[in-house]
This record gives sequence, C-alpha cells and structure tokens, in this order.
Amino acid sequence: MNTNTTEEIEIIRATSSKIDTVDFENLTFGNVFTDHMLICDFKDNKWQKPIIKPYEPFLIDPSAKVFHYGQAIFEGMKAYKDDNDDVWLFRPDQNFIRFNKSAVRLAMPEVPEEIFIGGLKKILDLERNWVKKGIGNTLYLRPFMIAIGSGVIAQPSTQYRFMIILSPARSYYSGEVKVIIAEHYSRAANGGIGAAKAAGNYSAQFYPQKLANEKGFQQIIWTDDATHTKLEEAGTMNVFFKINDTLYTAPVSERILDGVTRKSIVDLARKEGIKVEERSVLVDELVAAAKDGSLKEIFGAGTAAVINPIVGFSYQDTYYELPKIENSTALELKQKLINIQYKLAEDTFGWTVKV
Ligand SMILES: Cc1ncc(COP(=O)(O)O)c(C=O)c1O
Repeated sequence: MNTNTTEEIEIIRATSSKIDTVDFENLTFGNVFTDHMLICDFKDNKWQKPIIKPYEPFLIDPSAKVFHYGQAIFEGMKAYKDDNDDVWLFRPDQNFIRFNKSAVRLAMPEVPEEIFIGGLKKILDLERNWVKKGIGNTLYLRPFMIAIGSGVIAQPSTQYRFMIILSPARSYYSGEVKVIIAEHYSRAANGGIGAAKAAGNYSAQFYPQKLANEKGFQQIIWTDDATHTKLEEAGTMNVFFKINDTLYTAPVSERILDGVTRKSIVDLARKEGIKVEERSVLVDELVAAAKDGSLKEIFGAGTAAVINPIVGFSYQDTYYELPKIENSTALELKQKLINIQYKLAEDTFGWTVKV
C-alpha cells in the first residue's frame, strides 16, 4: 500500500459552481450534490493517487462485480459550520474505523487514513461554501467503495473505487414516526453482514419497508432473526427505549450497526446522570411497559436524523401509542448533541475535528 498524503491529492477544479442554483431552504435529503467528488482507485494490489474532480457520471464495465455480487460499502457523516465560519467533523475516526471493518467483512481492501480522512478534509476545504451556518444545516458526506473489476464470476474483485460525494442537507425526517415491530422479515443474521455498512443490508430492507409504509408506518424496528423476540435497530437508526427512568438500547453485535450517534448518546446520557443500560429489550417487555405505563419514550438515533422521537409502535396488529410528554429525554439529548456538533457547547469529549 502506498502512503498518499493529503498534499498528494490532485485537484481539478470545476469551471463554475452550481451553488447559486440550489435552494438551500427546501432541500430534500440526498438529492443535490456539490461541485466536486473524490475518486481513488485500487488496482495492481495498491491504492492509486486520489483525485478531486468535478462531480460527474463515470463509466464502468457492465460486468463489474458491484453490479452482480454487491461488493459495495459506504459511510454517512456530516460537516457542520459554527458561527465563526469554521467547518467541523463529528467523530470522523469512528466512521473511518467502521468503514474499514465493513471493507474487511466484504473482502475489500482497507482504505488508508490519508485517503479517507485526508480526502474528506481536502474536499471539504474546497466545498466549504456548501456548508451553511445555522442549526439543522449540514453537509452530508458519503464516502463509499465499489468493486469495479470486471467478470461475472462470483469471487472478490481485484479492482475497487473509493469515492467521496457531498450533499447539502437539512433535518432528515419530518412529521410523526410510527414504527412496526418485525415479526417475519429480518435485516441481519448471526454471522451475516448486519454490522457492516454494506449496500445489500439496505436493499434487503426495501420490500418489508414498503409493506410497512403501506400499513401507515414510517419505519420497522428489526428484531433478532432467530426468535424475533429481541428489539434491535431501525432502518438507518439505532433505537433507545425509556422505561421508567432508564434508557435501554440493544448492545452492538454482528447483527447491529455500531452507530456513532448511539455511542455518543450513551456517553452524553451517562454524563447527564441518566441511567443507561446496553442490553437487549424484549418485545414482550416493551408491550408490558406500554400497557402498564412505564414505557415513556422510544427514539431512533443516527447521523441523518440525529434523534427521531417515535410516537407509537405496532406489534401483532395492535398499535400502542406513547404518552405525550413535556420534558422528553430524546429532545434534551438531541439538543445537547447538536450543541456540541455546532460548537455551541464545550466539547468535553473531544469529538469535534476542525477542517
Ligand atoms: C443500519 C443502521 N443503524 C444505525 C445507524 C446509525 O449510525 P450512525 O449514528 O453512525 O449514523 C445507521 C446509519 O448510519 C444505519 O444505517
């Protein structure tokens, strides 16, 4: 593996910027991209020189392994702008580590830090005008890797493409989120790829997600594949349950993505003196808590949505509505996390990294 430094990343600038054509007040998540993208190919058993160039489509052979065998992984992270116009990343080291864990699980080459973190900083520096000030405004960062080697034989590719694309975003979810608890379908299994941020984990959810949407639910809370009795995570969020005064969230496992927001919420909550237990919550326990009134809150936690309160859940065709509460722990923790991300509160954890 060669050792590219950030200085070695070549930049070909776009001749003009499309930024003035973008309506930053009315963005739908993930549809608009900035002027540039980063590309770095892996071939001849080593990473080549990364390049930042104007955002544009590219050609790949129709027999490329990504199309046939799904060797594709990604990350999702955000950049924030503070009141002094400085741009910040939130725990990028965690995304870097997780990306390479996904790479190993999908038999793909690990990406060196100089390319992943160095590349992120370099492209963000170039696109800093796309990071808008003000809470709720972010630039969503999508590093990803695909297998571009050709040949329809079911074996790992020898050629890969690592890329970073950037998309200005506002808050992800709007409106009330009602969830349905998975009783038949699964997103992950022991020994599978659930803990990797692999493209196939998401396509596997689309059909059950569609069925849930048709029934009026925005998300599914997945349960363990073997027994469907343990609550695990939602589409792109880890899930927390507040029962009495304790927050519960499933422990990370080979079926659950090790969310950066999840671990930050656990640390933040503990610092605030809130009791947190990382242990499996049983569906029966949740139903019982909903019935006897000890279930206070359910919320999802993830980069895109930050924290998303859930208003009710359905299980075995019965819908359980959560109580309306005034001092929601979800919103209190969300505010604290956002204050750190936007540099409005002291970052005692050392999570924020300046670009
Ligand atoms: C399956 C899944 N679980 C949880 C999360 C939350 O992880 P993070 O907080 O790192 O965004 C995500 C989003 O990345 C996800 O795709």
